[in-house]
Parts: sequence; structure tokens; C-alpha cells
Amino acid sequence: MGVFDHWHPVVASSKLRQKPIGIMLGGKEFVLFRGAGGKIGAMEDCCVHRRARLSRGSVINGKLQCSYHGWQYDTTGQAESPGTPKLRVCAHAFDTAEKHGYVWMKRAGAQAVIPEFDLAGYEYVCARDYMVPAPLEVVLDNFTEVEHTPTTHANFGYDLSKMAEVRTTVEQSTDTVRVINTGPQKKTPWVVQQLAGLKTGDIFTDDWVTYFSPVYTQYEQFWNDPKTGAERRDRYRIYVFFNPIDQDRTELVVFAYLRARTAARAAFIKLTRPLLSLIVHIEIVCDVKMLSSLADKSPELHGMKLSRFDRVLGLNRDRIQSIYRGESPTSSVSVPTIQA
Ligand code: FES
Ligand SMILES: [Fe+2]
Repeated sequence: MGVFDHWHPVVASSKLRQKPIGIMLGGKEFVLFRGAGGKIGAMEDCCVHRRARLSRGSVINGKLQCSYHGWQYDTTGQAESPGTPKLRVCAHAFDTAEKHGYVWMKRAGAQAVIPEFDLAGYEYVCARDYMVPAPLEVVLDNFTEVEHTPTTHANFGYDLSKMAEVRTTVEQSTDTVRVINTGPQKKTPWVVQQLAGLKTGDIFTDDWVTYFSPVYTQYEQFWNDPKTGAERRDRYRIYVFFNPIDQDRTELVVFAYLRARTAARAAFIKLTRPLLSLIVHIEIVCDVKMLSSLADKSPELHGMKLSRFDRVLGLNRDRIQSIYRGESPTSSVSVPTIQA
């Protein structure tokens, strides 16, 4: 079991058209192309003949043609040489699928399923990807603790002066880690309050569940009136996938949805989608900028002084190691003391 045994959303379906695309995942380069009937082919971005980069080639009559000597590949990796017609070879093709507006990829034959999204009552807001110059563990650390939200985030987050009031509960199973945070929403501009249907000082709940095949987190975010306890208008449901590009870079693939309680609200979400999408985008960019500027991006926890919000870091690492990377549980992650 390893990284390639899980499905990853590697490129937006809309970006994969006539031209092949080169991507990177888990430190390896791959080419993706649309072959006969729009079927997607994926294989290492290296011609089996003399190692030309296949993503420099072109698709001709449903086959990917290498730009060096013209060998042609179908989506299963079968290749032939026009100059030596009896010579037939096979490249190692990966499984592909299209779902949620993205192309997904995994090692052929690996037993894995593409995550389903539970979206009854939710409206689509946006799907986009971001490259973060930091390793997977360090990026997931940021996306599963809320202590950074008062200072790093623009709009969604807790009030720094009331951070001590924020309650954080961690629940774990063998294959998930859930963090539920509740506390006072920080000051937010009027326009964001109107668009997002919340008020400064509301009780803001962040309920996050992280899965590890592949590594992704489902975020549920909602606000309650601090006096009456009534839930505000909107709930965000956001899925963030963490694709390890190589040891130093992680790609975030973000799918955002908003709950529509009425048909009128659903219509309004559609109408204001670019603005709602911008709100989500601003928050993600805040994280990307902070992660880009860290003084040390090593995933090593030792040497850090961890707080009560950081319990999740070691739990995530354990599961990344055992479920996602398929490494021996005997080399369990050791976590420095956590301050209560
Ligand atoms: S290197 Fe690709 S055809 Fe020769
Ligand atoms: Fe964040």
C-alpha cells in the first residue's frame, strides 16, 4: 500500500482537453490525455522507447503520440512504433475516473474508492486547486487546527482575545480524526456578514473530519446566535484534498458547497456564487501564504512546543503513515508534550 493506491483528484476535468497534460504526484511525473471516445489515459511521463517526456506529445486519432520518434500509446498503455510495426510494447497505465468535476487517478488494480460527498440540501459554490510549497503533514497541520484562525484568516475564525474560551474536542477512530471547535466569531466586515449570513460574536462551530484514503478533510462550518442559540442562515461544507506533489509541495483541491434551506436561498447562492467563491478563496489563500512563509517546513514534531489545539497533529501523522503511506505501525509517530 502506498500513495498511488488511493484515488487523487489530479486535474480539473475542464483543463484536460485536446492537449496532453503533465502532472506530478508523490514525486513522480505523469501524463494525462484524452484518447478515443474521451477516455482518459494516465501513465508515467516518460516514453518507454528512449524516455522522452510524453506530455510534450500530441493526441492523434485517439492515441498519444510521442514527440521524439512518434510511438503511439492508447489509454491502456499499449504502444506501437510506426517505424517498426511489429514492435508492440506496453507502458504502465494508471486507472482514471472523472468525478466532482476532477480527473482522479490511482494505481491500476488498487482497491480504493473515490470519496462520495454527502451534499443533500447543499449548493455548489466552487472547486479549485492551490499549490503550497510545504510537505503534506505541515499543510494538514494548518488545516486541522483553529489556533491560527484569529491571526491568519481574513474572515472566518475566532476572536483572539477570546481564544481561551474556544472549546476543542478531538474524536478518533482507526481511520478518521474529527475535531470540533466552538467559540466566538471574530470581527468580520459588514459585507461578509451579509453574504455569509453571520454576525461578529456569533458562536462559530468548525466540525472537521479527516480521512486518509486519500488524505482529505470534510469541513462543516456554521454559526449560532449567542443569545438564542438559533443557527444562522448558512452552513458551509468544504472538502479539501491534500495531494503530495513531492516532499516539498502539496496541492490543495478544494470543493466548496453551501446549504440552501429554501429554493429562494438556492437561487440566491447561484446568483452570488462568484462572491461566495471569492470568500472561500480568500480564506484558503490566507493559509497558503502563511504556509509558504514558515521558517522551517520540516514535518518533524520534535522541537515544537505544542498547544492544546495541536493534539490532532500526532493523530494525523499516525494515520498518514499507516493508512496513506502503508508504512509499518511499529514506527509510530512520537509527539512532544502538549500544553493543556
Ligand atoms: S522516445 Fe518516444 S518514441 Fe522514441
Ligand atoms: Fe486556515
